[in-house]
Formats: sequence, C-alpha cells, structure tokens
Amino acid sequence: MKRSRTSGRAVRAALAALAIAAWLGPWLPGPGGETPAMMHHRKGGGGAMAMGPRFGRHGRGMHNPLPATPEAIAEGRALFQARCAACHGPRGRGDGPAAGALQPPPADLARVAGTRPDMYFFRVVSFGRNRMPAYRDALSERERWLLVHFIQALAR
Ligand code: HEC
Repeated sequence: MKRSRTSGRAVRAALAALAIAAWLGPWLPGPGGETPAMMHHRKGGGGAMAMGPRFGRHGRGMHNPLPATPEAIAEGRALFQARCAACHGPRGRGDGPAAGALQPPPADLARVAGTRPDMYFFRVVSFGRNRMPAYRDALSERERWLLVHFIQALAR
C-alpha cells in the first residue's frame, strides 16, 4: 500500500517534470547551445537556401543569400569557366564550343541577366531544363549562388 503510494507520487513528479520540460522546451538550449526557437529561426534564415512552394513558382522575391562582392562574382566567373563555358561560352553569350550540338541552343545569359530574379537562375542551374544539365548534386548551394552572381553581373 505504502509502496504504490510512493510510486504514484513518483509518476506524478515525473509527469510534472515532463510538463515543465515541454513548456520550457522552446527556450532550453539544444546541443549547439542554441534554443530550439533559435534553431527554428536559423532554419528560416537558411530557408533562403531552400526552395519551397511558399516562394512561388519562379521564386520571385528570393534573393541570393551571398553578398555580391567582387570576390563572389570572381569566384562565380571561375566556376562558370570550368563548368559552364563549354556550352554557354566564356562570357555567357551561348557560343561555347559545344553549343552547336544543342537543340534548343544554350541561352545567351548576358541577355537574360538582370531581367529575372536570382531564384530563377538558381532553379535552372539546380534542376536543369531541356539540354541544360541539373547541377543540384554536382555543385554545392554556395557554388550555385556564386554562379547566379556571375550571371546577374553579366547584365552590368
Ligand atoms: C551541356 C551544355 C550546357 C552546360 C554545360 C551548361 N548549360 Fe546552361 N543551358 C544549356 C542549354 C541548352 C540551355 C537552354 C535550355 C532550354 O532550352 O530551356 C541552358 C540554359 C541555361 C540557363 C537559363 C537561361 C534562360 O534564358 O532562362 C541558365 C541560367 C544556365 N543555362 C546556366 C548555366 C550554368 C550556370 C552552367 C554551369 C554550371 C550551365 N548553364 C551549364 C546548356 C548548358
């Protein structure tokens, strides 16, 4: 009798502790010293990297998360020369050595640069289109955003 009363009290104490933990949960620091609320916030910020229906079909309003520094554009240019110029040409004019074999041909990126939001280019580079290969797996998100900086800079 005494025993069961003790365990009943223990259960109640455990439940109370659980309730407090659940209530405090969002404010207690997680493994990285971040609270779940902070992590959620960071995920929201990192969401600039993610893509979802909430950004709309063309991701209008979605901007490059990397600042457009001269260094970022130069890095994008180097990536472009290595990965894209064979088709798009060194200056993105659609006149690379492999361009002739492609139907429809590679776009003149200098012409579309500046006329579309960053997310549009990020999506085409990530997912491809017709003969344009997808680079979601071949290039990191950062590399794809650097390329977007290079493409947008072609307009200037
Ligand atoms: C194998 C050749 C090839 C390579 C390599 C290639 N592209 Fe393309 N790209 C194309 C073709 C072809 C198109 C036109 C797609 C279409 O018909 O819709 C295109 C279209 C695009 C567009 C869309 C332009 C518009 O008018 O909407 C972007 C942006 C682009 N490429 C960027 C890149 C970047 C950045 C790389 C390098 C990471 C790259 N491409 C590598 C062939 C290529």
